[in-house]
Amino acid sequence: MTPRTPPRHVACIMDGNGRWAQHRGLERTHGHMAARTAIEAVLDGALQEKVEWLTLFVFSTENWSRPEEEVSFLMRFLTQHVVGRETQHMDSRGVRLRLLGGADSRIPAEVTDRLREAEELTRDNSTLQLSLAFNYGGRQDLCEAARSLVAQGVPAEEITAETFAQRMQIPELPDVDLLLRTGGEHRLSNFLLWHCAYAELVFLDVLWPDFRTSHFRHALELYYQRRRRFGALDPADAADAADAAASVAVESPALVPGPATLLGLPTAIASHLGTALWDGLRETARFTVHQLTTESKKPGRSSRPS
Ligand code: IPE
Ligand code: IPE
Ligand code: MG
Repeated sequence: MTPRTPPRHVACIMDGNGRWAQHRGLERTHGHMAARTAIEAVLDGALQEKVEWLTLFVFSTENWSRPEEEVSFLMRFLTQHVVGRETQHMDSRGVRLRLLGGADSRIPAEVTDRLREAEELTRDNSTLQLSLAFNYGGRQDLCEAARSLVAQGVPAEEITAETFAQRMQIPELPDVDLLLRTGGEHRLSNFLLWHCAYAELVFLDVLWPDFRTSHFRHALELYYQRRRRFGALDPADAADAADAAASVAVESPALVPGPATLLGLPTAIASHLGTALWDGLRETARFTVHQLTTESKKPGRSSRPS
């Protein structure tokens, strides 16, 4: 069996907490609380499968428009349960935690302080890089990069994909290989727009609080079945194309592959059809020129359109 290279960067849109709670007749916040087990599961899965980078979408720049109680619950929940209690455990497993997202005066100082402490404590770890997208928006990340280039007076001709990427909030954040979204929605919701340019997208119906490592492994299986081409041909298709070109050249060395190959018709029939079409076009042109000449010679008729 061919060895399978794990995705280097898995990004996860953890969606479906509210629906999970509502299905049980509970407040939406119960769904957020139940998400703790799922966060442990995705972390375990990434560590077991030797993923290098894991980015979790915790709170989007658009999530501020939710009811105030839910927003403040999410802020407390993040510091107390995701970062607070788990930091030591993450540290002992070699997880480096990083914050990905903009500053905002609405974020309580306690939340920012805890996140920064966790970043500091885990900064020398290298088994798994865990970025928490908190108050994160893909468009904002792009705007920040553009602002920084302008502020530093970088000339237009020096702006390339590489120089641009260096201005993003975490410049070393690699392209996403696998983007996983739970909760059944098929959209990006402003997540990692730059980094997902060539991501393989996997959408699962499972609601986030029900997510377990088996779901993570399933997503990876789907990923391994994908053929990533990055705009080129994959080696198998390139070999087929080369074989097909060689066989056309043997059959008819003087012919560039033409309509016969495109339509999949035997060469003799296609070339007969081509000749018939060409003859028809020539006849039509000859008839049209004749009609125009006769019309313009009729007395009292101008050759100019009125
Ligand atoms: C994702 O679950 C968690 C956050 C956005 C913080 P939702 O809260 O969006 O759950 P649904 O989509 O309403 O079920
Ligand atoms: C995306 O989920 C944000 C997070 C998971 C943090 P949303 O539930 O906010 O996305 P939409 O509103 O359905 O697009
Ligand atoms: Mg949602």
